[in-house]
Amino acid sequence: MTTQDGGRPLLTTETGAPVADNQNSETAGRGGPLLVQDQQLFEKLARFNRERIPERIVHARGAGAYGTFTVTADVTTYTRAAFLSEIGKQTEVFVRFSTVAGSLGSADAVRDPRGFAIKFYTEEGNYDLIGNNTPIFFIKDPSKFPDFIHTQKRDPHTGSQEPDNVWDFWGLSPESTHQVTWLFGDRGIPASYRHMNGYSSHTYQWNNPAGEVFWVKYHFKTDQGIRNLDPAEAEILAGKDPDSHQRDLREAIERGEYPSWTVQVQIMPAADAATYRFNPFDLTKVWPHEDYPPIEIGRLELNRNPRNIFAEVEQSAFSPAHFVPGIGPSPDKMLQGRLFAYGDAHRYRVGINADQLPVNRPHATEARTYGRDGVLYDGRHSGSKNYEPNSFDGPVQTDRPLWAATGVSGLTGNHTAPAHAQDDDFVQAGDLYRLMPQEEKERLINNLAIALAGVSADRDDIVERAIDHFRRADSDFGSRLEAGVKERRR
Ligand code: HEM
Repeated sequence: MTTQDGGRPLLTTETGAPVADNQNSETAGRGGPLLVQDQQLFEKLARFNRERIPERIVHARGAGAYGTFTVTADVTTYTRAAFLSEIGKQTEVFVRFSTVAGSLGSADAVRDPRGFAIKFYTEEGNYDLIGNNTPIFFIKDPSKFPDFIHTQKRDPHTGSQEPDNVWDFWGLSPESTHQVTWLFGDRGIPASYRHMNGYSSHTYQWNNPAGEVFWVKYHFKTDQGIRNLDPAEAEILAGKDPDSHQRDLREAIERGEYPSWTVQVQIMPAADAATYRFNPFDLTKVWPHEDYPPIEIGRLELNRNPRNIFAEVEQSAFSPAHFVPGIGPSPDKMLQGRLFAYGDAHRYRVGINADQLPVNRPHATEARTYGRDGVLYDGRHSGSKNYEPNSFDGPVQTDRPLWAATGVSGLTGNHTAPAHAQDDDFVQAGDLYRLMPQEEKERLINNLAIALAGVSADRDDIVERAIDHFRRADSDFGSRLEAGVKERRR
């Protein structure tokens, strides 16, 4: 019994029994109370109550699309990763873009970094590269991340994002000066996900067949050109069309205007790291291009929209710990902290079988583990043995680590990162400021002054501390900002 008059399929309960009435619930007599025997009604209400899963603790709001990564240069001297092994080789990808601080229903056109998370479905397993549209970050130790994010989210008492909290934290975290300068500049509000670059931000390890190590940073340069919104324009757009970025991406792909990015890497031979003028594993610093020029290695194109946003975007799960042979972590403490945080978030948010969902599971190979069961386990291993060692032809280890070993020395302890010759928290923020043309400097100072003016009138100390960081980056920057803030706080 699958069709009714007109050939339409019959509505059923979750377990396939035909539903007699989906418009009138069952009552004791006309006008009487409901009956508990109305399975259709209670199943429907109960399922509805469970439609949401916890939103991501950060980057809750996002949009995704599938596409292709194509290798355009020979990088086999640097890495043995199979998906990078020959020019012209193509790998399927899924990319999720996001804002950081807003919750799931927030607007897209806001001043905030944008996430740029890529899942490469390689033949050696999925490789996830989870970066932002900024080459740097606010902090350099993972223990500060929850505190930092608390200041970006809603205050526990007022229920709103509070300028006092934001600026108090930044003013007490001098390492944030570079990223804050970046964020309040023109690129702080991209016009769309298509019109921005992506960066690994972190340094990662590549290793070649001989086991030699190279440190790399990835850059994804938009082929659509950089386009930003000015703050007044963004304010209107955020109100009129909160889904502006998401819609733009989906509609461009529907029109066949596939967005693409030219992929570049900066490569540092392992031997350079110890004596480089900046700590190469400090996430608040870039490697100036004159030191390590970016080399083009590929092209990323997005060409297929997801069919179901919940299944494929909301339940997508990216982890910086998902490496493939030839690629590994660097000693960057932030990255090391992230290696734990994402898998843990997935197990909470989506469940222990998250990596077996269609969007997350390997597409170009298969997962072969002795892990079993758990909520929503689909029985894929059938009756095969669930222990190792075994003599039943179960899967075996390779004896070859994905990445090369790195040396360590010294005593355990809560250490700060090693300082290199030119390391301080302000030098690169000053360089960035001095690079800006005069009009951009003015816009930056204006944006910062408006934001700082929002700090409570009786907390000038918070404002002073924050301005002092910009003064230390560049005295002109500091004094102009001080004047701008004074004018607005009179
Ligand atoms: C120690 C520092 C950090 C911690 C503890 C952390 C933690 C997290 C967590 C728990 C999530 C949610 C994951 C999920 O539920 O699926 C997340 C999402 C994300 N994070 Fe981080 N994060 C850190 C730093 C960074 C940095 C430095 C970047 C960029 C370079 C970054 C980029 C992202 C992106 C793009 C997403 C969204 C991924 C997606 O689209 O699903 N995070 N982060």
